[in-house]
Amino acid sequence: MEATANVSNGAGLVYEEKEDTLGPEDLSEVLAAGTKEVHEKAENTQFVKDFLRGRIRKELFKLGAVALYYTYTAMEEEIERNKDHPHFAPLYFPSELHRHEALARDLEYFYGPDWQSQVSCSQATQRYVDRIHQVGQEDPVLLVAHAYTRYMGDLSGGQVLKKVAQRAMKLPPTGEGLEFYQFDGIHSAKAFKQLYRSRMNDLELDMETKKRLVEEAVKAFHFNMEVFEELDEIGKTIPEDALNAGMPVHGAMGGDIS
Ligand code: HEM
Repeated sequence: MEATANVSNGAGLVYEEKEDTLGPEDLSEVLAAGTKEVHEKAENTQFVKDFLRGRIRKELFKLGAVALYYTYTAMEEEIERNKDHPHFAPLYFPSELHRHEALARDLEYFYGPDWQSQVSCSQATQRYVDRIHQVGQEDPVLLVAHAYTRYMGDLSGGQVLKKVAQRAMKLPPTGEGLEFYQFDGIHSAKAFKQLYRSRMNDLELDMETKKRLVEEAVKAFHFNMEVFEELDEIGKTIPEDALNAGMPVHGAMGGDIS
């Protein structure tokens, strides 16, 4: 079967990219299969379960945005460093994917104009950030695993998370504070994910490297879970506010933000 992805290139143009039948050795398949179990674990962390039920305390959500800010700052810094590297260049989509600036605007909304002096990088986030920098500088092919874990995840569940957060914290319908979840350069998340998968599959990588990429993606999931667990611990120390505004989770999402 052949799939065709229509994807905006960010300048309003649309181009097509064909994806041949996928095999078990294709990187997109190797990564999906190799992270299936850890994905289920991530979905079942307390913080994520609470979030999906609309049990989101604003203070905790803000700290989550701070963690994402440091994570994406590191990741996108390393992506910029490696944008011409043959093992990353085909996955370089700054205008479609990059989240650093959206997160900076979200933090400005939540913390005000002097947000930078009010936020800091937590311990669990710092460990994640350190690994991203290490990979970007010492073993750039592994950056693919970090980009996959975050961007493909954001494109899969983002819209549902945005709606839950908007409703639970009564944020404005205009999207302020939630720009992270809004990919203005992507019209169809499904088509973009197909393009991204076919770009991953075109990278010239041997099986040994694909296995290292799975290991790194599993690590990336664990770094995310450690951040969730840290937020959960902090949550136990701050008062409850916005609760009971949950939404149904599965079925509503369909694996696509569009
Ligand atoms: C894909 C749901 C948390 C990373 C998906 C898909 C769904 C989903 C339905 C399917 C997309 C498709 O078929 O195209 C959820 C739910 C979560 C959650 C309900 C809990 C809130 C996470 C977390 C991460 C993550 C915490 C990592 C930080 C990914 C990745 C994919 C994905 C990398 C792409 C899989 C692939 O097609 O190769 N998610 N997810 N997800 N998710 Fe999640």
